[in-house]
Amino acid sequence: MNDNSFTLGTGAGGPATVSIDNQHCTGEIHLHGATVTAWQPKGEQPVLWLSGSSAFDGDSPIRGGVPICLPWFGPGRDGDRQPAHGWARLSEWEFVGADDVEAGTCATFVLQRDGLELRYQVTMGERLEIALDVTNIGQEAVEIEEALHTYLAVGDISRVSLSGLEGVDYVDKTAGGTVVTQDGDITFDGETDRVYLTSANVTVSDPAGGRKLLVQSQGARNTVVWNPGPAKAAAMPDFGDDEWTQMVCVEAANALDNFYRLQPGGTHSIAQKVSVV
Ligand code: BG6
Repeated sequence: MNDNSFTLGTGAGGPATVSIDNQHCTGEIHLHGATVTAWQPKGEQPVLWLSGSSAFDGDSPIRGGVPICLPWFGPGRDGDRQPAHGWARLSEWEFVGADDVEAGTCATFVLQRDGLELRYQVTMGERLEIALDVTNIGQEAVEIEEALHTYLAVGDISRVSLSGLEGVDYVDKTAGGTVVTQDGDITFDGETDRVYLTSANVTVSDPAGGRKLLVQSQGARNTVVWNPGPAKAAAMPDFGDDEWTQMVCVEAANALDNFYRLQPGGTHSIAQKVSVV
C-alpha cells in the first residue's frame, strides 16, 4: 500500500472518492457506482468526459467517466427493466485498498448484491486499465448483460472517426434494432447508438483534440458506440445541451443476445484499456 499515490475524499458516511496522483497521471473514482470520473496522463488533456450537469446527488448515475452497467444493459433484453442499465452504477461500492503496481496505482472495489459479487480493479498509469470480475455467489444461475460504459473526451465529434470495426455488423438502436454492416470508419452526424456484434481494438481519431485514443477490450463480445446528438442531449437533464459535441462512448459490453449465463460459483471477467497513442 502506498499512501502517497492515493487519497480518500470523505463523504457523509465515509469515503466518497479515491483520488490518484502518481508519476504517470491523476485520476478519481467515486464509490457511487465505483465510477471512474477522471483519468489524465501527465501532460495530456483529460481523457474521460464528465458532464458539467451530472447530478452527483448520490442517487442518480454519474453522467460521464466510466459507469458500470450490470446486470442488464439499458432496459434489458425484454425492454422492461428498471433502473436503466442495472443497479451497479447506482450502488455504493466498498473501497478495498490501493497498491503501487508496475503500471501505476491499482485500486480495488467490491460490491455484493442479488447473489453476485463484483470485484473491480482500476489501474491508473500511462494507461487506464479497468477490470471487472463478476462471481455468482448465489444458488441459481444468473443471466447477465454488462458494459463498461466509457465516456471519452473529444475536441469536436463532427471530425472524429473510429477505426477497427469496419465490416462488423451492428444493431442500430436509432433504427428500431435493424442490423447494419459497418462500412469504413465510424463518423458522427447526429444521434448514434450502436451495439457492434464483436469487440475489436478501436482507435479514436480526434483531430480537433490533437490526439488518438486506443480502446482495447477483453471478455467482451460487443462494442457499444454512443453519442446522443443534439435532440437527445437537450432532453437529458444531466447532459449540457452542447456537450454532445465533446464526447463519445466506446463501451466494452456483453449485451442483447450476447448476455451470458453465470452458474453458481462461476466467475466472468470483462476489461478495457484506454491509452493515448
Ligand atoms: C448507451 C445506450 O450505452 O447508454 C443508449 O446504448 C443510452 O441507448 C445511453 O441512451 C445512455 O444511457 P443512460 O441510462 O445513462 O441515459
